[in-house]
Amino acid sequence: MENEQFQELATVMERFLAQSGELEIAYKALELQTEQLKKMQEEVQQSRVLSALGEMAATVAHEIRNPLGGIGGYASLLARSIPPEDPKRKYVDKIIGGISSLNKIVSNLLVYTRKTNLQKQSTDLVAWADAILAHAEIEIEKEKKKIAIERMFPAVHLTAEIDGERLQQVLLNLLINAIQAIEGEGKIFVEISNSSGVAGSGGVAGVLKSSGDFAEIKITDTGKGISPENLENIFTPFFTTKEQGTGLGLAIVKKIVDLHEGEIKVESKVGEGTTVRIKLPIA
Ligand SMILES: Nc1ncnc2c1ncn2[C@@H]1O[C@H](COP(=O)(O)OP(=O)(O)O)[C@@H](O)[C@H]1O
Ligand SMILES: [Mg+2]
Repeated sequence: MENEQFQELATVMERFLAQSGELEIAYKALELQTEQLKKMQEEVQQSRVLSALGEMAATVAHEIRNPLGGIGGYASLLARSIPPEDPKRKYVDKIIGGISSLNKIVSNLLVYTRKTNLQKQSTDLVAWADAILAHAEIEIEKEKKKIAIERMFPAVHLTAEIDGERLQQVLLNLLINAIQAIEGEGKIFVEISNSSGVAGSGGVAGVLKSSGDFAEIKITDTGKGISPENLENIFTPFFTTKEQGTGLGLAIVKKIVDLHEGEIKVESKVGEGTTVRIKLPIA
């Protein structure tokens, strides 16, 4: 009798031990899931904050635009009624300059926050880039800098399905950053290719992961470069190291590249220069 009870107890114990092992595994899995859930909740919260911020920024930008238009109009009228040699004219010109940089900030904000639909068209990348580079060269002349733009274009035509107008903003933003990074004299290399380049040395931000048919646009400058700490933040909206910067240029660039399902990667070395690579799916 006693023996039978003992046997029963042993079976129960065995079962208990087996179950507690299973329980432990289940508990571990639950813990992992809780952690993942917490992370997801944080991400959701962050994207909620960001979208609320974006909405607010868009509203504010919109509300600022109208009075700004009025001020600009009156300032231009005023400027026209004051002869250029009048010392007062300098003040009015300063007002007009200020208004134009405010306008720039406002329209950048609107571009960044607005929901954008792409209008893709089959585009000859070389012709497209050439027109934008001509624009950048005018900018260089205006800034009175000695910067040569070197075109490294493919011999054959390279066409891609892109929204040329939106991507123009991308290339122009990158070129202007390059121009601003060069003090005095330097070079900007713009390479367009149909290849799969891989990382070199120096700090890296962003990822290149695709394979298959894509075009690569590579912009290299001999400017002052970006420190590793700053490199981590360059795509963050409002991150800027410039006195007159908006910190929206690269945020917009990233957004437009993402919309194209492309990839962007930035490598930089302080004192040597910066390379930005953009990969765009061709089809
Ligand atoms: N080609 C470059 N060379 C050096 N620094 C750069 C370059 N491009 C971007 N940066 C850095 O990234 C920051 C963010 O750039 P961006 O988003 O275009 O804003 P902004 O030009 O208004 O500062 C810049 O302030 C600068 O510190
Ligand atoms: Mg910029």
